[in-house]
Amino acid sequence: MPDIPIPLQDFPLAARVVAWQRCHGRSSLPWQHQRDPYRVWLSEIMLQQTQVATVLAYYPRFLERLPDVAALAAAPADEVLSLWSGLGYYSRARNLHRCAQVVMAEHGGRFPSTAQALAELPGIGRSTAAAIAAFCHDERAAILDGNVKRVLTRVLGFGDDLASAASERQLWAHATALLPAAGADMPAYTQGLMDLGATLCVSRRPACPGCPLADLCVARREGQPEAYPVKTRKLKRSRRENWWLWLVHEGAVWLQQRPAQGIWAGLWSLPLLDDEAAVLQAAAALGLAGETALELQPAIDHALTHLDWRLHPRRAVLKRPADPGAVLGPGRWVSADGLTAIGLPAPLRKLLAG
Ligand code: ADE
Repeated sequence: MPDIPIPLQDFPLAARVVAWQRCHGRSSLPWQHQRDPYRVWLSEIMLQQTQVATVLAYYPRFLERLPDVAALAAAPADEVLSLWSGLGYYSRARNLHRCAQVVMAEHGGRFPSTAQALAELPGIGRSTAAAIAAFCHDERAAILDGNVKRVLTRVLGFGDDLASAASERQLWAHATALLPAAGADMPAYTQGLMDLGATLCVSRRPACPGCPLADLCVARREGQPEAYPVKTRKLKRSRRENWWLWLVHEGAVWLQQRPAQGIWAGLWSLPLLDDEAAVLQAAAALGLAGETALELQPAIDHALTHLDWRLHPRRAVLKRPADPGAVLGPGRWVSADGLTAIGLPAPLRKLLAG
């Protein structure tokens, strides 16, 4: 059990965070200063594992096309994925779509108002549910995303290994004990913890001198803030190589939809083959050998959460119409215009844009 300094109820963290957020926190993001649960929810899902600067480019475009939960629920999955294309972690987009449909079917088109009920919805974890309830309804609910874990473990000197479910539970209990009293500015508190973690209390070389919690911070006193949080279970990365067969005919490209599970689930991709031999075999079966050269393209290195992936595109321009589906399985020709309406993995969109 870590040595927590004083009873947490007396720890003056909340008031400091609220005061700091009002002066120094982020205050002009497009999802702030309004309480529409659809808009807040969308921003929180987009902001998971994604920088604010990136989200700023996607958020207005998404809302323009799908301005409310009814529009999102009714949209084709391909449209949702195309609006998400480039943000990565596509399970977020699929859950977003499912969540909108559940809100329409089971909640009469209104998001539930408590953190507990929000956490029952697809794709909304405990911390995101709490953030939405705090921002929209001032609920006193604790958040604990990656950034906030860093802030709290440091300020409290919480050195237990967060790989263990029991210590994670313990940190949730501390986060709850640290909440401000009823009537406090919950949006400022919640945003303040996030902003501290994103701007000052960063993983490497935190900016302690500007931190409103500096004099309270156990990790700072110990002289090694970067030692927190402690998490031993390291992500095991793997490597993989695949070949991309890039068939072009009269400006259209032949694409296949990825299965519903796994990498790029539901997105459209060039046919993925295991090796060069499989590419040559498919090309021969399509009658390409001799007639059409398979252009060698530079390899693309793409990093996913658990995987370093090297993709080798092999491009062939078909002079006569063909049905690659007979050799490669289901797929379709997509024109350049059609590409804007479907979900494509970011490296493929870049490749096709040349
Ligand atoms: N990350 C998750 N939620 C966020 C928010 N509301 N503001 C900034 N970064 C965030």
